[in-house]
Amino acid sequence: MRVDLYEKIWMGVAAALIVIFLAAIVVAAGAYAIHPQSHVETIDPTTVLEDPEFGNPGVAIQPDGSVVVTLVAEMFFFDPDPIEVPAGRPVTFRLTSPDVIHGFEIVGTNANTMVIPGYVSEFTMSFAEPGEHLVVCNEYCGLLHHNMVGKLIVQGVGE
Ligand code: CUA
Repeated sequence: MRVDLYEKIWMGVAAALIVIFLAAIVVAAGAYAIHPQSHVETIDPTTVLEDPEFGNPGVAIQPDGSVVVTLVAEMFFFDPDPIEVPAGRPVTFRLTSPDVIHGFEIVGTNANTMVIPGYVSEFTMSFAEPGEHLVVCNEYCGLLHHNMVGKLIVQGVGE
């Protein structure tokens, strides 16, 4: 069977594209730790604000020194705001929404998750350096979506 030269070239290009696409996934997952949620937890969105955990959002230091941030994203703010966490310790974020889908992105880090009514989003990360980060909602959630910003303050040791 004779394969035309141009056919061979385009077969090569198609194979190369597949390799590039697969490599992009591997690099994103390996080098940048970008991956789907590993956590599925549900909550009744109509009672979030009376929930023992999410009715009283805030930052709690655990006995082992780790930190849990319980946060509610609602039209059009984050509670708590600002979020104050210590540097150099694992911080677990637990988020939910009582109304519509919001986003939670800590600008300048790879923290970025959807906040979906009915579900608790959870991820853990630590912040090496003290400083301030902008927090933005990156899912269109209504007329004042563009005003839905917050602040995360990473405190150094002794602050
Ligand atoms: Cu909340 Cu956009």
